[in-house]
Order: sequence, then C-alpha cells, then structure tokens
Amino acid sequence: MESNKPPGANKEEIQKRIELLAEKYQASGQELIDYLDGLLHADYLTYWDYVHLDTLLSLQTPKTSIPDEPIFIMYHQITELYFKLSLHELEQIASAEHLEADALLEKVQRINRYFGALTHSFGVMEKGMDRKQFLDFRMSLIPASGFQSAQYRMIEIHATDFVRLLHKDQREKWANEEEEIPAMFEHIYWKEGAIVAKTKEKTLTLRQFEKKYSDELIRLAQRVQGRTLRSIYRKLAKGSAELDELKNALRTLDLQVNVNWPLQHYKTAVAYLAARPNDIRSTGGTNWQQYLPPRFQKRIFFPELWTEKEQGEWGKSWVEDTLNELRGQRQ
Ligand code: HEM
Repeated sequence: MESNKPPGANKEEIQKRIELLAEKYQASGQELIDYLDGLLHADYLTYWDYVHLDTLLSLQTPKTSIPDEPIFIMYHQITELYFKLSLHELEQIASAEHLEADALLEKVQRINRYFGALTHSFGVMEKGMDRKQFLDFRMSLIPASGFQSAQYRMIEIHATDFVRLLHKDQREKWANEEEEIPAMFEHIYWKEGAIVAKTKEKTLTLRQFEKKYSDELIRLAQRVQGRTLRSIYRKLAKGSAELDELKNALRTLDLQVNVNWPLQHYKTAVAYLAARPNDIRSTGGTNWQQYLPPRFQKRIFFPELWTEKEQGEWGKSWVEDTLNELRGQRQ
C-alpha cells in the first residue's frame, strides 16, 4: 500500500516547523515566504565550499622551486591552526562571566590535546625534510622566522600573569600592575633573546615583529589582566577543594607549552643548524643555542604548581643529551 506521507517527516511535524520559522522571521520583521523562495533556489552545501578547500590549498606559495619547501610551509600553517584552536579556548576562558573548575578543566584538556598533537607531529620537521634542501631554501626566507608567530605570543599572554613572561632576571622587579604592562613589555623574554650579540641592537626580525604586533600584544595583555588562566585558577583555588584534576591538567599545560614543544622544536633546530666547527646562523638572527632551550628561558606559567627543585631543573634533563647526540651523529 502506498503512503501519502512525505518521506522523512510527517505533515504535522512539517507544519510545526513552518509555524516556528514564521515566528522566527516575524520577530525580526521578515517574511517567511521570501526565505522559502530563497530555499527553493539555493544550492546544496558542499564539503569543499564549507571548509574553503580551494582557498586553503592555494595558500602554499614557496619562494624557491626546491621540492621540500612546501613541507616547511604547510607544517607551519598546520601549527598556526592548532595555535588558533588553543586561542579559541583561551578567549572563551577570558571572557566567561564565571567558570567552575570542571568547565575550566575541559578547556585546558582541549589545549593539552592540541599541544600534544603538535609535539608528537614535530617529526614532520625534524626528520621529514632533506637537510641540504632545507639549508638551501631557508636562505630565501631571511629575515623571517617562526619567532614572529604572534599567536604563539598570544597563547603565553593568555596563560599567565604578564610578569611571568619577562626575562627571568626581570621578574622580581615588577609588580604586574596594568599600567606597568607597556614598560614590562620591553623586558619580555623574547625581546631580550633577539639582540645581536656583537652590537647589542635588536635584530631586524624583532624590529619588524614589533612594528606589526606590539600595540596589539600590549592591548591583549591589558585586556586579559586578571582574566588569564593563572588568575582564574587562583581565584578558584581559594573557594574549591576539588581541584586535583585541574592542577594536573595545568601542570601538563605548563610542560606541553613551555618544555615539550620547545624541546622538540629546539631538537629540530639542532638537527638542521648544529654544525662543526660553528653552528649555522638562524634566519631570525638570535643566538639560538643560548636562547631556545627551556632551561635557559625558564618560562613557567604556574609556579605555584611546582616545587623549588622542579623549577630549578626546568627543562634540563634532555637538552644537553639531545645536542650532544645529534652533533655526534653528524661527525
Ligand atoms: C626546520 C624547522 C625549524 C627550524 C630549524 C627552526 C628554527 C628556529 C630558530 C633558530 C628560532 C630562534 C629564532 C631565530 O633566530 O630565528 C626559532 C624560533 C621559533 N620558531 Fe622555529 N624552527 C623550525 C620550525 C618551526 C615551526 C614548524 C614552528 C611553528 C610555528 C616554529 C615556531 C617558532 C617559534 C614560535 C619560535 C620562537 C620561540 C621562542 O621565542 O622561544 N618553528 N625557530
């Protein structure tokens, strides 16, 4: 027997939806019938339009015709998207009226997953390019450097009190007041890292980055003052007794962002740039062997979650091992 019901839904359900839609459009002075006409003519959504695939796949424009250069570009782009995912969570944390420990935990775990994925996939860089090709195409990229990743700096600003991001010798001197932020900004650890050793001047890479992003980064730091991950956690800590899981997640975040990813990145820099008798100069012009290792930078977002000893040994264990191991392999 044939049914005269429309496939998928019955007439009453369709009628109900039409009434709801009519109410929705009336509320903003619109006519449902016009929108129904629009639907009649509209094309179906496709995957490729939805994710802007053609645009996405057109964004890789190498500076040379060396075959491995697109790998370098694409992996940077993948990383920037993971940074954007992390900032998506951090922005929600900063703008929430109130977050309970479990909601904060959920968000921190998401960021940990993103950084975990980044750390685990870094072999795409470390092992995935021909060294000679890399050393050739990078000469066409000077003075650009991953150092100029603004999203990386924004993640740090969202994560902790601004004073925690200053060069380690400067942290004691400042009170972390909002009006101090522009002055403190001059002593942020990455500025102190990008000084030409001989002349004591800022590298061109840094000067260009400052020109484009200083104002934006200072404004962000002022906006999230008191709304950083650390501030929100510390406010919670006063009122709640069940924070163990959150503490563990924040410790993992501290390790992911400030030790694991930087060490993996540093290991990669060593794989390509360490050489005898002299290491190869980086595109951003930092004294990278002295600058990049986490044990020198000692960036720690949540010092209250680590013992003095743990802070003292921050990032220490495998930096030297890795350096020696890799230099040895190349002899
Ligand atoms: C073969 C691959 C890579 C090498 C050899 C390398 C090398 C370097 C070096 C030497 C620096 C120090 C700044 C300078 O003097 O240029 C640096 C900084 C940086 N790079 Fe890379 N990098 C690589 C891949 C990446 C990737 C895939 C990203 C992802 C976005 C990235 C992001 C960064 C960031 C955020 C910094 C600043 C780190 C800090 O201030 O502590 N790098 N890189």
